[in-house]
This record gives sequence, structure tokens and C-alpha cells, in this order.
Amino acid sequence: MKKLLISSVCLACFVFSVRASASAAGAPLYKNSKASPRERAADLLGRMTVEEKLGQLQQLDGFSEGGYREEHLKMAREGRLGSTLNVRFAGNVNKLQKEAVEHSRLGIPLLFAFDVIHGYRTIFPIPLAEAAQWKPELAEKSAAAAAAEAYAAGLKWTFAPMVDIARDPRWGRIAEGAGEDPYLGAAMAAARVRGFQGDDFAAPGKVMACVKHWAGYGAAEAGRDYNSTDISQTSLRNIYYPPFKAAAAAGAATVMSAFNDLNGVPSSANKSTIDGVLRGDWKFDGFVVSDYTSVQELLAHGLAEDGEDAALKALRAGVDMEMVSTLYRDKIPAALSGKKISLTTLDRSVRRVLEAKFRAGIFEDPYIDPKLETTALKTPRALELAEEAALKSLVLLKNEGGLLPLDPAVKKVAVIGVLAGSRADMLGSWFADGKPEDADTLLEGVRAMVSSGTIVVYSSGCPVNGGTDEDLEKAAAAASGADVIIVAAGESAEMSGEAASRAFLSLPGRQLELLERLKKTGKPVVVVLFNGRPLELGWLDANVPAILEAWYPGVRGGRAVARTIFGLENPGGKLPVTFPRTLGQVPLYYNHRSTGRPPSPSEKYTSRYIDSPTEPLYPFGYGLSYSSFALSGLSLSSGEITPDGAVKVSVDIANLSSRAGDEVVQLYIRDAAGSETRPVRELKGFKRVTLAPGEKKMLEFELGPAELGYYYSGGFAVEPGVFKIYVSTSSAGGLEAVLRVSAR
Ligand code: GLC
Repeated sequence: MKKLLISSVCLACFVFSVRASASAAGAPLYKNSKASPRERAADLLGRMTVEEKLGQLQQLDGFSEGGYREEHLKMAREGRLGSTLNVRFAGNVNKLQKEAVEHSRLGIPLLFAFDVIHGYRTIFPIPLAEAAQWKPELAEKSAAAAAAEAYAAGLKWTFAPMVDIARDPRWGRIAEGAGEDPYLGAAMAAARVRGFQGDDFAAPGKVMACVKHWAGYGAAEAGRDYNSTDISQTSLRNIYYPPFKAAAAAGAATVMSAFNDLNGVPSSANKSTIDGVLRGDWKFDGFVVSDYTSVQELLAHGLAEDGEDAALKALRAGVDMEMVSTLYRDKIPAALSGKKISLTTLDRSVRRVLEAKFRAGIFEDPYIDPKLETTALKTPRALELAEEAALKSLVLLKNEGGLLPLDPAVKKVAVIGVLAGSRADMLGSWFADGKPEDADTLLEGVRAMVSSGTIVVYSSGCPVNGGTDEDLEKAAAAASGADVIIVAAGESAEMSGEAASRAFLSLPGRQLELLERLKKTGKPVVVVLFNGRPLELGWLDANVPAILEAWYPGVRGGRAVARTIFGLENPGGKLPVTFPRTLGQVPLYYNHRSTGRPPSPSEKYTSRYIDSPTEPLYPFGYGLSYSSFALSGLSLSSGEITPDGAVKVSVDIANLSSRAGDEVVQLYIRDAAGSETRPVRELKGFKRVTLAPGEKKMLEFELGPAELGYYYSGGFAVEPGVFKIYVSTSSAGGLEAVLRVSAR
């Protein structure tokens, strides 16, 4: 007790001395970097007018090329602007920042934000591809590299990571997240936050993360972007929330509220998810920014009758900063005068924004060194990392007869497909300030890999969409006489990402016809897929001996794919999302419930189709290697635990081949019976391991309440009963054990 008394007296003295030194020096407390962000924000808040407070809650859009708008200078000078989107580069940033810092009454710096989703100038594989790495530590490095480049461009805030769980491949934004699984999604979300922010996002080279889109945006009905979502509380808590919770626990500085109507309440005015879950349950202490005009869109949703209604509903719900629309600025002053909203409500949002700015260190360090733009972008290290990221994201879907890897001394290879020669498409969607000229193409990669005596012919074949008979003829002619044909197929980059939902999952245009023509040549065909979503690949799976999923692999993707095709690298990625046989199966995901009549091909009256198998073409967690591996020796440290207990799961993995390779060992559970029905499998652990030829390793996992428990109407619990434990190399099959959880 005595110690406690002394320390609290010391603390009081410290606080008094900080305050005293500040006032003694005449500088206001908020300018004292030794005071806490909380104290500085409180002091500053007390000095602000309503107009200045609303200025902090306003983010406006610059030009896509990076410039600011003329009116931003005046608004910054008058303290009526808190942040910009898209304004970047030292010249623009420092000029606009100077107006705010040196010419406004209180000198509050601006936050400069940009969508740095998978790289700033050095573009990494799209996030769905990074999830296919099953290596969060690698994704963390990529995010850190992206942060360093974004910082060099004058940015201090990125609108990433996007962590929306997506189970519908029609939704174009499935490309931007980590796929369908909450456990993998949570690991990737936390890794990316750590990469962007580091231990202290005030540090040079670090930026504030913004976890998006809160909440449930990926469940857009029919896969149509911006569409309504209806999600049960159980599904929200067990499926859609975990990546956000992990990101918040990793210290994410901000969260972005989503566009979608969630169970009748748009996410950008949803008090129960923002103030209830995010702040109430998880104690998130950052600030929430709306999505682009999503406050204004409350009118279109039919939630708000007019601008004031929209502003009040969003602000009351806990949306602190308004992106691009200006209803807070335009409507809140009158609402305050009319006592429709309290100053307390306004102040809590302003305080959150100010605290974030103090934590970001921009009061002390508001400007960016212009030299960084020439020294910090596309460094050799960043480019090496981009190539490693691409290599680890490749998923080998089929390799009949071991066609791959190809012999670099092959006499003649035909490379076919417009995507094989495209630099721009390698960058995928949301490529920030990435430049197509930075990207390797697959064609260049192949040319660099083959022997000097190899003949490489190229034909672009048909465009991704459309194409003529002549296109097909030319491609077939180019392929004739080749010993092997490498075809780049898939979607163009703009066919996924935001506002890019598709009503079909087929290969667009005449690509399938092209493949049928090429198959008729009788030569072995290797297909490399460039795409941002699962596609219908039934014909390919039945007719093409080798299929490599490359997603959009970034600036070093062409080189990475070629190195893998010709065997310098061994693919080891795994699908983070289910590939259905047909769109008709969607939504189709591995962690589905059992139903009372689980599908059985031999039983008519079960949950099945009369015209298609029920299983996916390629399941979640699936991927092949040039090596072959075997799991054995699954054992549990105990066969029975109490609900608050834990069990160690160990298993051996052996490389049976003569070639080093990676395998991803995956741990799944099935809670056999509960107060609510549980998924037939749930991922609860994974390790990607590299094994030398013949090497065998023992891996260990731990299952405790966090893994065995789930949310249901009664809260979160580990319920007594039988749990099936599976260890596998995909979400299907594998070794099995039984764990019993006894009542206390
Ligand atoms: C967009 C996206 C969001 C992005 C924001 C700013 O509409 O929904 O992900 O960060 O606007 O560009």
C-alpha cells in the first residue's frame, strides 16, 4: 500500500510538473510532447471552437494524381480540415500541411491518407494472394515495406488492411481480403496491422492502419457490391468479427465503417456494432472514419430523412470522421444550437481524432523529407520481398503426370494469352502508385528462364473479353510445333476489386474456346491463372494437365511464376477460399453447418443437387507441391480436458520426395454437438513448414478455450462434449482424433 501511495504522489508531481513547465514556458499543454495524448487532446479540445472541432472530423478528397484542391489551403488555414484522401508527395503534402501547422490558429496538423492496400510503389501480390501464402510473418514484412514507401510519399495513414470475410466469389472485393476463414483472416489482419504500424506508428516509415469495412460488408447479398447484408449474431461473432477483433487487439489506430446495410441498420450509423461491440466489448480506443460518402448515403439507404438526420445518426453511432461528404460540417452546428445533439457527443469524436494525431507524432513531425521519394521507393530489398511474396502465394491446383516443373532446355515453348504479356494486370486492383512498367510479365519470365537454345513463341490469343476467330487461329498456329504450351488465362485486373462484381465465374470472353483449340494440338498445356476471385475451372480440371493459380502476383510476379514453372522454385501456397465447380453452388465454403441431411451422392433425400456434385472443385486450404508429404502420428496430450483446459496436438510431417518443399499443416476442429449447431470443420491452427528431401518434423499446436469456444445466444463458451480433431493439408481429409471436454 505504501509503495502505491508513494507512486501516486510521484505521478501527481509529474503531472503537475509537466503542466507547470508548460504553463511556465507559456506554451499550451497540447504542444508539450511530454504530456500524454489524452492530456494534450483534452487541453486542445478546450481551446477549440465548434467550427474547428468539426474541421477535425472532416476528410476531403484531393486529386487522384496526388494534388490538393485550392479550397483545401483556405480550409486548412482556417482549421476547417482534419485530413485528406489521395493528397501525397512531399511538394503537395508539405505545402498544405504548412497552412494547417503554421498559419492556422491552433496549428493542428492534417492526416494524409491513401489506399495502400498491397504496396505503395512496389506492388505486392493482392491480399487474397498473400493469404494463400499462409505466412502471416511474410504479410507483415510486405505491409512494413508498403508503409515505408507510403511514408516517403508524405502519407501517415493507409486505408488497410481490408479484412472482410468473403464467401461469395461474385463479389469483386474478395480480391482485397484474406478469403473465407476467420482464423486465417484474423492472423493476416493482425500481421498487416503490425506491419503498417510497427510498435509505434509515430516512427518514421510507419503509418496508421485502418481496418475495414466494419462490419459484414463481405456478405453482400448475391455478391453484388454495396448490397444489403443479413447476418445472424452468431455468424457475426464467429465468422465476420474475428479478423477485426484481431486487428483491434494488434493496436489498429483506426477503423472504417462500411457502406452496407447490416440487418436493417447501415454500418455507418450502427451504434450497436460501433459503440456496442467495437468500443464496448473490445475497448477499441482509436477513431472510426466513414467510408467514402457513406454518411451521406444514409439518405439513399432510407435510414435518414435529410442531411441533418444522417449526420446525427452517424455521429451518435460513433462514426468520428466523415469521409468526403460534408454533413457534419454543414448540419451539426444547427443541431447543436437546437439541442439535438450535445457538445459532449461532438467532443468525444474530436478527442479521438486528436489523440490519434498526437500518437502519430505529427504535431512534432508534420512534414516529410522530399529526398525520401527518391531513396525509399522500389528498393532492392522491397523488390526481393515482392518476389518472395509472389513465390509463396502461388497455388498449384493440378499437376497431372508431374508435367511441372518444365525442363528449361525445352526445344520450343509457346506462350499464349494477353495476360502473359500484360504488365498492368500483374498489379491487380488497388495498386496505389504502382506503375505497370515496374512489373515483369510472364512472357519475360519464361524468356529469362529457358536455355539459350530454346525457341519461345508468343501469341496474345484473344483479349480477356471478346476475341475473334482469327485471334484463336493465330494462337493455335503459334502453338503448333511447340513442345509445350503455357497459357495465361483469367480476368483482367479491373474485373475484381471495388464495384467489380460478376454474375458469372466463367473464364471471360473466348478463353475457353482458345484452350480447347490449344488442347487439340495434342501438346501438353500448362495454364497460369491471373484472377482476383475463384473461377469455374471444371473444363480446365478435366482437360489441362497443369494449372497454377497466380492471382495478381505484383511487380515480380512474372519472374516468380516462370521460376516456379521451370522448377527453380517449388509452389507451396494453399487456397484461402473455396473454388466451386459452378456458380450454382455459391455460397459454398468449407466451414458450413452439417444440416439434418448431410449431402450423400447415394441418398436422394439429402442436401444435394441433382445436376452437380456438392463438393467444391478445389477446397479451402488445398494446394499441391512438386514434393510429396505424409502426415503421421497424430496425438493429443490428453483425451479429456475441462472447459477451461488446454490440450497439445502433435503430428509428424515428412517429405517423401527428393526435393525440398513447403507444406501447410492445418489443424481443424469439429464441435460435435452444442447449444447451437457448429461447422463441420473450423480452422484453429496452421504452420507452413519447409522440409528438406526425406526430412521429418514433429509439429505441435495447442487448443484451449479461445479455439474450442464459440459465441452463441448464451454468450461465449466452451461447451462440454465431443470434439473431433483433424490435422490435414487442406480442409478435407486428414488424420483424426477425438477430444472430450468434460463438464467442470
Ligand atoms: C472506397 C472503398 C474504401 C476506400 C475508400 C477511400 O469506396 O470502399 O475501401 O478505402 O473508398 O478510397
